[in-house]
Amino acid sequence: MIAYSLSLLVGLLATLSEATPQLYRRQAAPMPRNVPRGYTGHGRSDGHKAPVTPKVLILATYFDEANIWPAGMPEIYKLNVTVKGLMPNYPVVHCTAADGVCLMVTGQAVINSATTMLALAHSDLFDIRKSYVMVAGIAGGNPDHTSTGSVTFARYAVQGDIQYELAAPLPPNWSSTSGYFPLGATGPNQYPTFIYGTEVYEVSEALRHRAATVAKKVKFNDTAVAQEYRQKYTQRAARQPPGVQECDTLTTNLYWAGSDIAEPMSVYYKTMTNGTGVYCSTESEDSGWLAALFRATVVGRADYTRAIIMRSITNLDRAPPGISDYDNLFGLQQGVGSYAIGLQNLYLAGKEVVNDILKNWHSTFEKGIPTKNYIGDIYNSFDEDNIDYG
Ligand SMILES: *[C@@H]1O[C@H](CO)[C@@H](O)[C@H](O)[C@H]1NC(C)=O
Ligand SMILES: *[C@@H]1O[C@H](CO)[C@@H](O)[C@H](O)[C@H]1NC(C)=O
Ligand SMILES: *[C@@H]1O[C@H](CO)[C@@H](O)[C@H](O)[C@H]1NC(C)=O
Ligand SMILES: *[C@@H]1O[C@H](CO)[C@@H](O)[C@H](O)[C@H]1NC(C)=O
Repeated sequence: MIAYSLSLLVGLLATLSEATPQLYRRQAAPMPRNVPRGYTGHGRSDGHKAPVTPKVLILATYFDEANIWPAGMPEIYKLNVTVKGLMPNYPVVHCTAADGVCLMVTGQAVINSATTMLALAHSDLFDIRKSYVMVAGIAGGNPDHTSTGSVTFARYAVQGDIQYELAAPLPPNWSSTSGYFPLGATGPNQYPTFIYGTEVYEVSEALRHRAATVAKKVKFNDTAVAQEYRQKYTQRAARQPPGVQECDTLTTNLYWAGSDIAEPMSVYYKTMTNGTGVYCSTESEDSGWLAALFRATVVGRADYTRAIIMRSITNLDRAPPGISDYDNLFGLQQGVGSYAIGLQNLYLAGKEVVNDILKNWHSTFEKGIPTKNYIGDIYNSFDEDNIDYG
């Protein structure tokens, strides 16, 4: 059994929240000018040659998300696996054991999360055919559906920037508040006449629900500043203390802010999921690693049906009344406190999900959790008969 050290975690987060500006829902990792020597290696720290077969593969997207794990779960440093082809500044996958829990940092933005995931899936050092792959990342939140400090579990990841963007002035008969409209359409609210294939990924609803249910046991952390800022919102969801929500995620490389973009993005989300998806978190990676996991599954190197999308909310994607979107974006009030609790709650929830998988591996997780919903991409590449969007 893994022993978690909460005091280590708390200590780390205290240093971390002082050291990092708590302003951004996604932060740039400092990129070394030269890839350090030693990082060019390849192989397991214990010298064994057999592929590592993690029960859980946790994906972080940058250092702050990565650091919550060794802080609370020091066993994650027992086995280090250096893999050529990962992010040059994050080449080492950390594991508790060869058949335990592993942590990989994908790097930020769609391109990094996709290429990193694909490199790992095709690495001779790993066999992830039975691994539960869970992103544990922070995100912006939609105040209609979630609040800062909450932890969300998605069924859909929609890639929101496969769109046109028309500069103002917009055609006078458009009701849209932004120039965004679906690529392959001629205006807002239309279903595209052609697609690229990565617009929508759907994951197992049963697995998502199980993860959310165990996460609900957590007593989440909160701060007075975050509480105070939440009360400026008029939406009921945005005013709630941190909790767990089952709602979807929107991936865009573009870090946009404000309701004039958020509302058209919600419309796009509904259009692409046949009215069944509701985005509550916004981030820049999930379409990417899901696409890679999906492709790896097609060639028998992964199991896409075991994907879990967990995102905690560190700020909201639009301002409350009386505050500009610019000030909201740069966190003049909101960032204070929300960033730290988003990270803390991500770990607290993620730890429960990981524990559930380890504890019930033989009885339940090894063979997989049956689900009724469609699992897959917008092309219906697995050729299932229950596709529920597109
Ligand atoms: C794994 O990497 C971590 C972080 O660099 C390090 O502290 C730890 O000692 C390494 N463990 C092994 C077994 O090499
Ligand atoms: C706006 O007007 C154009 C030209 O008349 C028409 O083709 C288009 O369908 C209209 N768009 C909307 C959103 O009503
Ligand atoms: C919650 O946050 C406070 C302030 O940052 C910290 O002192 C406390 O240890 C945190 N608790 C947990 C469980 O992370
Ligand atoms: C989309 O929704 C419509 C209306 O609810 C339904 O008739 C149609 O079957 C749905 N499409 C798919 C692919 O599920």
